[in-house]
Amino acid sequence: MRVAVFGAGYVGLVTGACFAELGHEVVVRDVVEAKIEALRAGRVPIHEEGLDELLERNRERISFTTDVSEAVDGAEVVYVAVGTPPTYSGDADLSAVWTVVDELPRIDHRIVVAMKSTVPVGTGRAVRHRLDDRGLENVGYVSNPEFTAEGTAVRDFLEPDRIVIGAFDGADGDVIAGLHAGIDAPVVRCDVPSAEMVKLAANAALVTRISFINEIANVCEATGADVTTVSEGIGLDRRIGPSFLRAGIGYGGSCFPKDSLALKQLAANSGYNFQLLNAVIEVNELQKRRVIGKLERRLGPLRGKRIALLGLAFKPGTDDMREAPSLVLAGRLLSEGADVVAWDPIADGSAHLRGVEIAETALDALAGADGVVIVTEWPEIRDLDWAEAAARMRGNVVIDGRNLFEPDELRAYGLVHEGIGRPIA
Ligand SMILES: NC(=O)c1ccc[n+]([C@@H]2O[C@H](COP(=O)([O-])OP(=O)(O)OC[C@H]3O[C@@H](n4cnc5c(N)ncnc54)[C@H](O)[C@@H]3O)[C@@H](O)[C@H]2O)c1
Repeated sequence: MRVAVFGAGYVGLVTGACFAELGHEVVVRDVVEAKIEALRAGRVPIHEEGLDELLERNRERISFTTDVSEAVDGAEVVYVAVGTPPTYSGDADLSAVWTVVDELPRIDHRIVVAMKSTVPVGTGRAVRHRLDDRGLENVGYVSNPEFTAEGTAVRDFLEPDRIVIGAFDGADGDVIAGLHAGIDAPVVRCDVPSAEMVKLAANAALVTRISFINEIANVCEATGADVTTVSEGIGLDRRIGPSFLRAGIGYGGSCFPKDSLALKQLAANSGYNFQLLNAVIEVNELQKRRVIGKLERRLGPLRGKRIALLGLAFKPGTDDMREAPSLVLAGRLLSEGADVVAWDPIADGSAHLRGVEIAETALDALAGADGVVIVTEWPEIRDLDWAEAAARMRGNVVIDGRNLFEPDELRAYGLVHEGIGRPIA
């Protein structure tokens, strides 16, 4: 099939590359010329495991353009993978989605618009009305939400847990199902609002588990239990399962915070107070700040103290810093008067962290530091020469925000380690 993908971001590029891998002809369209030029020159503007190779391998089947007509010409499916960031109130900003809908030219054959962007329930119906108002009744609409996780997006796309296809017209759903031929996964066929809700509810379920285990961790700290053992013990219960039970300094990223806020707002706009989700979001905000308290208990007032942040990306395997806990931590530390130095193996903090010194290497970041916070569980941080790190630090406090180390592992180097919900060594 011939597929147009609108949006050359994390989702659009992975979607385009994977459909090309499945044998389809793909044109990816973006409004940012520099991005398209880079892609045409074989440079991938984001870091995503396996994406460069996939794009390179499928060069003959994938092209890039800024031109709408060129993208849509001859296409049977138009994927929408543009950003839907939060507005000031927390609702999803759908302006980029509406731009795509309004940009669609008249097409004389049947074509299906498939929504990959995460949108509030009701968006599909609104898009359907807008298409009809424009006389584009021959343009079908399908909700085909994306569940890939950054860092493992290529694998997640090609080996998904499920494919969700919500359609107004069964024939349009069949087109999208056909596009995924070659992927072995259960397919959930449903109405459009339910497909939209599956995406929001899936993310809400995941953030609920994260905030749940973080609260359990906080109670563990108060009572002397070890949250990693508790996670293992409850995760082995088949009714519960082990994933997303890793305590830490809270979730971030381009999806969880915005999608949970958007669902909360969607519920509120519909007259429902989603109390559980409100609490989940609040717990996450407080969790990031608990690190500051841990540092203060160890180091006293942070004014003038040098604090190193190891890891800036919201999770390992990506360069994405959107809503990363590192941003909140850096801001809080700076406002406490600390000198903040940061390092990440891939994410470029210089554009996001005003007032923070960006170090070339992890050891450079640790030189002269009074305390260090492990913010992202990069393997590079685990594999660091911690004897050398300890020698370069001025102080000896390691706040392990991701429980990357066992409590007593760093003691041999004279370091004091404090994790999240774990005994203090
Ligand atoms: N990032 C993820 O892992 C992930 C996972 C699942 C779902 N989603 C959802 O997918 C959507 C896209 O997320 P992302 O992380 O890829 O965003 P992104 O910001 O990385 O990419 C969006 C791209 O769309 C482009 N764009 C804006 N207007 C356009 C237009 N009119 N035509 C063509 N391109 C246009 C932007 O220039 C940008 O390159 C969001 O709704 C997000 O919630 C993201």
